[in-house]
Amino acid sequence: MTDSIYLDYAATTPLRSEAREAMLPYFGERFGNPSATYSLAAEARDAIDTARETVATLLGTTPNEITFTSGGTESLNAAIKGVAFAQQLARVGDHILTSSTEHHAVLHSCQYLEKFGFETSLLPVGRDGLVEPEEAAKALRKDTVLVSVMTANNETGVIQPIAEIAAAVRERARSLGRQIIVHTDAVQGANALRLNVDELGVDLLSLSSHKFGGPRGAGVLYVRRGAPFLPQQSGGGQERQRRAGTENVAAIVGTAHAFQLAQQERTAYAERCRALQERLIAGIAAAMPEAQINGHRERRLPNNVNVSFPDADARVMLRLLDEAGIAASAGSACNEETLEPSHVLLAMDVSLNYAVGTLRFTVSTSTEESEIDRLLDVLPDIVEQAKSATGVAAG
Ligand SMILES: Cc1ncc(COP(=O)(O)O)c(C=O)c1O
Repeated sequence: MTDSIYLDYAATTPLRSEAREAMLPYFGERFGNPSATYSLAAEARDAIDTARETVATLLGTTPNEITFTSGGTESLNAAIKGVAFAQQLARVGDHILTSSTEHHAVLHSCQYLEKFGFETSLLPVGRDGLVEPEEAAKALRKDTVLVSVMTANNETGVIQPIAEIAAAVRERARSLGRQIIVHTDAVQGANALRLNVDELGVDLLSLSSHKFGGPRGAGVLYVRRGAPFLPQQSGGGQERQRRAGTENVAAIVGTAHAFQLAQQERTAYAERCRALQERLIAGIAAAMPEAQINGHRERRLPNNVNVSFPDADARVMLRLLDEAGIAASAGSACNEETLEPSHVLLAMDVSLNYAVGTLRFTVSTSTEESEIDRLLDVLPDIVEQAKSATGVAAG
């Protein structure tokens, strides 16, 4: 469909042409295995080294602290399990603190660790989706080894006060006379936010390339020097022993190119997306006053509008939007198949009849005002049609 409208940039973004161009030689003539000894291999190795330097500089750290992975999910699993198992082995403790609105890659990693004797506490969020740093400080225990709070939420775009949370954790760690590691899932933050690891005060940070114009199936994990970390993948010594397996050179090159461009264009991106976000929110409020915008009004990503239409079935709305040529998401792309109310919205105390009628629209700099207007033209009628639909799972 030529005139279709894509409003699901939080689910994934198209590969940037600059990243694709940079990747192409590594699918072709530069195919060498970076671990080998001849010149063809050295080319691939150099490309990885350059990419690692680029990513390290953007995060305000050194290349040794950067690991390339197969995506956000792998980075998160490696971070959570890697720190937890290292600290369990060292008999430091087995308590993990995270928030109730994290991505399932974090929540399910914590649940997995519970099978190995770990305990997880979930920090509550307010109606605005924010974690209170004081709540984090209060929830820390003598045996807490890891705190993991996301930089920005994938469903609502709410931006968490990571620096304040990390400072509260550091203070508590000082009083205990040991480290408590702080990790942040920054997967949704790379287009709009400065991600300097020292300013954020984090020991580990996870990124996913396909959220910022890089290739799908590629990601980054930052691990601060000296942080306890037990690699979760065994094999060769690639990625400084942190992630065994022959490197995906093309994906690594594409990741670095896309991340650099995303970070360079951060301010212009935020400005442009904010204008589109405001246009959409104003249009919805004018046409459908019963609609509820979810998440803190200022502390949110500039490209996200998460909106609930009471008593409307999101699956019906998505189908009708698709028929109108508009791609959007219900809550989170990750739980589209089973329309169970989103754990993020429930944690924010959004009532069930609003939660199941929630849509997420996410824009980018390539979104046109006219596309927002076309959405606003069709949305009121679609919401009306979806209100009469029934059968939404409440589990
Ligand atoms: C906040 C957040 N964390 C983690 C992930 C998982 O990343 P990936 O798709 O690269 O596995 C996503 C993707 O939806 C996300 O939005």
